[in-house]
Amino acid sequence: MIKLTVNGRPVALHEGSTLLDAAREAGVHIPTLCYYPRLPSHAVCRMCLVNVAGVARPQPACVTIAKEGDIVETDSAELQEYRKADAAWLLARHPNDCMRCEASGSCKLQSFVNEYQLEDRWDKLPRGSDEHPEHKLTDHTSPSILRDLAKCIECGLCVEACGEPGQQLNIIGFAEHGSGRLPVTVFDQSLADTNCISCGQCTLVCPTGALIETPHWHEVLHTLDARRRKSAVQVAPATRIAISEEFAMQPGTVSTGRMINALRQLGFDYVFDTNFGADLTIMEEATELLARVKKQKNLPLFTSCCPGWVNWVELNRPDILPHLSTTKSPQQMHGALTKRGAFARTLGPEFAEGSVEPYVVSVMPCTAKKDEAVRPGVSGDIDHVLTTRELARMIRARGIAFNALPEDGQFDSPLGESTGAAQIFGASGGVMEAVVRTAAHFIGEENSLALEWHQLRGVSEGLKSAEIPGIGKVAICNGIAATQRLLKTEAWRDEYVAIEVMACVGGCLGGGGEPKSMDPLVLEKRMQAIYAVDKNAPRRRSHENRDIQKLYATELKEPNSREAHVLLHTSYAARNSSRLLLMRFLDCVDRRDGKTAASLFHADALWSTASPFGDIQGAATIEAFINTRLPPRKYGPAYSRHRMEASADIDDLTVITPAGERCRFSMEVETLHQGSQARRVIRKLVREVLD
Ligand code: SF4
Ligand code: SF4
Ligand code: SF4
Ligand code: FES
Repeated sequence: MIKLTVNGRPVALHEGSTLLDAAREAGVHIPTLCYYPRLPSHAVCRMCLVNVAGVARPQPACVTIAKEGDIVETDSAELQEYRKADAAWLLARHPNDCMRCEASGSCKLQSFVNEYQLEDRWDKLPRGSDEHPEHKLTDHTSPSILRDLAKCIECGLCVEACGEPGQQLNIIGFAEHGSGRLPVTVFDQSLADTNCISCGQCTLVCPTGALIETPHWHEVLHTLDARRRKSAVQVAPATRIAISEEFAMQPGTVSTGRMINALRQLGFDYVFDTNFGADLTIMEEATELLARVKKQKNLPLFTSCCPGWVNWVELNRPDILPHLSTTKSPQQMHGALTKRGAFARTLGPEFAEGSVEPYVVSVMPCTAKKDEAVRPGVSGDIDHVLTTRELARMIRARGIAFNALPEDGQFDSPLGESTGAAQIFGASGGVMEAVVRTAAHFIGEENSLALEWHQLRGVSEGLKSAEIPGIGKVAICNGIAATQRLLKTEAWRDEYVAIEVMACVGGCLGGGGEPKSMDPLVLEKRMQAIYAVDKNAPRRRSHENRDIQKLYATELKEPNSREAHVLLHTSYAARNSSRLLLMRFLDCVDRRDGKTAASLFHADALWSTASPFGDIQGAATIEAFINTRLPPRKYGPAYSRHRMEASADIDDLTVITPAGERCRFSMEVETLHQGSQARRVIRKLVREVLD
């Protein structure tokens, strides 16, 4: 330990700690803009300059190692002037847009302006900036991430979070050097055209509103305020813990009851638990794993509940698609059951007949879940996805005193009961541990196999593994960087029977939609809280969930049944593949969205329907046909959709229609060039009925 003083306060801390650590230990606030605890610091913003006795110039506290006997001063008139000068330089280029900015209230630059009373140094710059005429500054193309680079202060944290110290995806990088640099994509492509997996780690570290999750909370509030639709919300396991931090509680504080009470005050008619969907995911996935082990087919099974990971596979390694579990994620299972299962029928005859459906919202620690909710084949089962941060904004916007709410809220039934196994979904290793608990039951080893698998837990190791007697060796990839390292060789193909992948380090508790935290141990604290909830749960194995047992008895028969496949399983496709084009087209047909369907075709395309409608020529005719000639769309339990017959065969175009017919499609595709953009469209689509 070394001893020093900060503003006269003595502190003792480990060797290797920085002056910023020392200040925090002493309870002294130093402004920081380019520092984030789990990323390397490059000291570019100079906001954290401090004086150290005997050192000629002020030092950046975030990178300067503390020494025994240091006398540190953080708040002299000279330091304040340095900070103001730096801020004035940033503000001269920053749009004065706080009134409309999504980051307002959580933006570090805005806080700094308030703390240092710099409002008068902030010119009334219009939206946008003339600084970088050569780059596109706003980008709304991703369903998950919104970029507004006029608000960028060049801290570099997003480049680190997406780059080598973080996700190792390198989707964004600096275009220039020195001042005036900007984090852009390769060739300035829109995010939707890059290999971005929507994990949102860049939004987690961005100190301003330059990178944020695509906001849904405004629409959610409008819909709730209008009170025209029955509404239901589901909440993910990691959210109920991390949301406490948004209201100044200690990391690791569990706020399940407070959060449920807040959601009711916001106006939701039903408050459900995504953990119910997680228990169901385990029932389906454990059954799928054991079936694959028995047949020795498509092993190892990769978990598929992380959409960031699914995006990565579809973008980078379509050869792995057959290994992905076809089980839907808890969010999508829960959405399908809420809209189209027995619950919807209980809401009234108009719901049962299919003329209306409930409005369904999810609250997730994850930005990629926004992306998942619009995937072909599942789109529409969730209407809007809120991140944990967005829910906190809604609660503040409605003036709900979150901290004063009682911790007594209860989830609604029947989609609200859950077990400890579902709760641990929020932590890296949790999905696999939950699968093992239920797979052990299915193979009759429940009493001989351990309930807790500590080898699979933890937020700091990239790769974890355990040998499960009777099942095989399983692995956990903690973060997409560790996953990429594992997949560099082919050893994984023979070594494991199942691999859990979570794109974010720590799992969803470290998700891109979670509160921004400067606590270096925040992941550990959230994780401990998650496992404590599991330990205290009355039931800790998914198959013990009584509502799940009832669901199989009344609706789904058994895990992996035909009925379960219709509602609870999904399909994948390589990006830029014909299969993906077909899945998108059929999704539009099911939703009777002729306009979007037509956008997938060449203007002169031909669709041969193999039906009394014959051949349909031209994108405009296809649009009109879908909108006006097909029978009107049904909703809720009456809504059924096309399904790909082979869930993950990357070339297969065989489809089961809503009427249960088997059809095979063939397709001619053409690439259209618009400026620097290339787009693949359908030139000819031929449908053949198989039986
Ligand atoms: S969302 Fe993830 S993959 Fe996309 S740019 Fe941000 S960090 Fe990179
Ligand atoms: S976009 Fe945000 S995180 Fe990235 S460099 Fe700019 S301010 Fe920093
Ligand atoms: S680990 Fe969780 S939060 Fe991160 S992308 Fe995957 S599902 Fe989303
Ligand atoms: S926070 Fe230390 S230089 Fe930016």
